[in-house]
Amino acid sequence: MAVLPIRVFGDPVLREKCPEVEKVDRDVEKLVQDLADSLPKPGGAGLSANQIGILKRVFVFEREGEVIPCINPRILSLSEELEEEMEGCLSLPGAMVPVSRHAKLILEYLDLEGRKRTVEAEGWLARVFQHEIDHLDGKLILDRTDRESRVQALQILQGGPVGAEEL
Ligand code: NI
Repeated sequence: MAVLPIRVFGDPVLREKCPEVEKVDRDVEKLVQDLADSLPKPGGAGLSANQIGILKRVFVFEREGEVIPCINPRILSLSEELEEEMEGCLSLPGAMVPVSRHAKLILEYLDLEGRKRTVEAEGWLARVFQHEIDHLDGKLILDRTDRESRVQALQILQGGPVGAEEL
């Protein structure tokens, strides 16, 4: 049991691209356990490895009270249809911005036994998957919203005026 601090905006690890796991070994098992322990319940829909400072391509998500790990997740297909909703992030406390996401997708990943699995998701869950894969690619919701929303979010995150270089 290890509840680790969730890294917040400004921490460079959130901008790192997480490389794939070569083998689902004890280290990956421990990482999954730490992610599950660190995911706030309630309040957290998903958590990616770099959000607790680990550069591995792994995230967990919560579904009906169960925390499910996705190792080496990869999107196999995306619907053309987009949906815009307000979105927040555990690493951007207090900030909510509109983000457009694909309405449906098919995700492929490895489970803890190293077996390949696929899952079809739509709506909220499809949004969570796209959000977490963005994290693993070093992207944040600030990169996915309009300029005005980004400025407002940065003001909340930094508690003051926003420098031009951050826009
Ligand atoms: Ni997030």
